[in-house]
Amino acid sequence: MNILLTGASGFVGSHLATRLVREGHFVLGVDNFCTGRAKNISELRTEPNFDFIEADASKPIFNNVRSNLKTKTTKFDWVMHLASPASPPKYFALPLETMLVNGEGTRHLLEFARESKASFFFSSTSEVYGDPSIHPQPESYWGNVNSIGVRSIYDEAKRYAEAMIYAYYRLYGQDVRLIRIFNTYGPKMDPEDGRVVTNLMFQALKNEPMTIYGDGKQTRSFQYVDDLVEGIIRLMKTDYVWPVNLGNPEEFTILEFAEAVKRLIPTESKIVFQSLPEDDPKQRKPDITLAKKLMGWEPQVKLEAGLKRTLEYFKTELA
Ligand SMILES: NC(=O)c1ccc[n+]([C@@H]2O[C@H](COP(=O)([O-])OP(=O)(O)OC[C@H]3O[C@@H](n4cnc5c(N)ncnc54)[C@H](O)[C@@H]3O)[C@@H](O)[C@H]2O)c1
Repeated sequence: MNILLTGASGFVGSHLATRLVREGHFVLGVDNFCTGRAKNISELRTEPNFDFIEADASKPIFNNVRSNLKTKTTKFDWVMHLASPASPPKYFALPLETMLVNGEGTRHLLEFARESKASFFFSSTSEVYGDPSIHPQPESYWGNVNSIGVRSIYDEAKRYAEAMIYAYYRLYGQDVRLIRIFNTYGPKMDPEDGRVVTNLMFQALKNEPMTIYGDGKQTRSFQYVDDLVEGIIRLMKTDYVWPVNLGNPEEFTILEFAEAVKRLIPTESKIVFQSLPEDDPKQRKPDITLAKKLMGWEPQVKLEAGLKRTLEYFKTELA
């Protein structure tokens, strides 16, 4: 298949592109490197089945796509829209860009998919559930989001994108897939992304104080990136058009997670507590009943094993 993939040089996008190319598909990556890194796709760029355009996915990219291709492929089977800053420090720094790539970008790419008669795939987020009042969160939960809070630039942009996608589905019968990703980690994460996994692992590696926000009793689930990519590939093979949660339902408090990091990385770091950021969700855990039933999918990689693989990568980054 021919696949247009935005966000290809990002953490998730580069893993997905690699898997798709390995399976024999042609991938045209699009990225403007605003949070992604060129080195994530340096190996891919030598593959005959991978092509790349540096472009802003918030703007129409059709002409770019048509004139810049090595392969001159203009017929796509899938338009997969993953481009978006994804960690709070990154989207705080890029508020309008985050809203535009999920808002206008989604609309332009839906239009491109419709014109090309391609299926459309979107990476939404567990953030659409906000600070959830039910636990764990099934896809049917409507969420508890502060529309004017500091995180709304991301949460509401993703909710707007979801609404736009189902408008295209209802209006034009556009074929769509939509996943809500819960906290995912693994190699190729940007060490500077400010997420809990990178923060705590790098602080431990550098013997710096390990920062926990609040009392550390808030919970998170941590999904290894290979499990996410497997879920995406399986969903592409179904004809299910409604949102599907992809995340690891094993739940840890942030303190438990910090202890797991300390068991893995011999460190002199001490845990220090700082005040909780505004609108930080108290708990997050996916209900993955639907993904299990629909495609027999559930995460395979345990936290300790996933952290070990991630640590190997981070050590090379530090070196
Ligand atoms: N990693 C997670 O835990 C997680 C959780 C929920 C949702 N998601 C979603 O998954 C997707 C990928 O996230 P990630 O963790 O790989 O983040 P990332 O920042 O590593 O990757 C996002 C990529 O999109 C690119 N990008 C952003 N705006 C762009 C624009 N206007 N034009 C072109 N490229 C642009 C960035 O340069 C980057 O390469 C995002 O849509 C994110 O919202 C990720």
